Amino acid sequence: MPREDFFDIVYDVKTSEETKAIYERWANVYDEDLSSRSYRQPARCANALHKQQPDKNITILDAGCGTGLAAIALKAVGYEALHGCDFSDAMLEKANKLQLYKTLKRQDLNNVPIDYESGMFDAVTAVGVFSFSHVNPKAIVELARVVRSGGTIIIGMNDHFFTEGSLLRQLEHMEETDTLEIISKEHGEHVPGNDLKGWVITLLKR
Ligand SMILES: C[S@@+](CC[C@H](N)C(=O)[O-])C[C@H]1O[C@@H](n2cnc3c(N)ncnc32)[C@H](O)[C@@H]1O
Repeated sequence: MPREDFFDIVYDVKTSEETKAIYERWANVYDEDLSSRSYRQPARCANALHKQQPDKNITILDAGCGTGLAAIALKAVGYEALHGCDFSDAMLEKANKLQLYKTLKRQDLNNVPIDYESGMFDAVTAVGVFSFSHVNPKAIVELARVVRSGGTIIIGMNDHFFTEGSLLRQLEHMEETDTLEIISKEHGEHVPGNDLKGWVITLLKR
């Protein structure tokens, strides 16, 4: 039987349940699929965080951590205090095997509140999680809640969802209400093997 093309399938999903079911199946070959296409966002996001917060001792929540590719990139930059959450058990199981996260939790980021205390992290990374039928732009309110004032949120996302515009509108609204400040938006590679570019958005929590 030919292997499923998850990149194709993941764009056709209509509900969060379908998304979860895909990642449950994708987990086993996710790293192989992404590395063979030179997935760039984890490293770009880790570098963006390092620019804002060079202190290697900061505590970071990797929201929608998947198999842990962002943890590998964050560790390469020198960060150690990494915590992860995701709604897919199969992805979390892979992440657990890496032994890079201090804690891992099953959390649906569209379901608030998530199980973390307000202001407990110095930074949050969300790499490849804001997308169609994935994590809703509104979830950024909850991610901002768990970051301390003066902390950083890094979002890595592909061109398609950026262009759709709802995340940017949400961020601009939060800027107007003085919850966040948009520090930078950098365009670059996302999944070069699929000819897909994307954005790294750096946010300061007010
Ligand atoms: C494209 S993968 C990115 C994984 C990892 N951050 C990376 O860069 O490799 C998207 C991840 O978001 C997770 N996800 C999607 N919707 C979610 C939700 N509502 N709550 C929590 N995790 C979600 C999926 O399970 C999957 O692990």
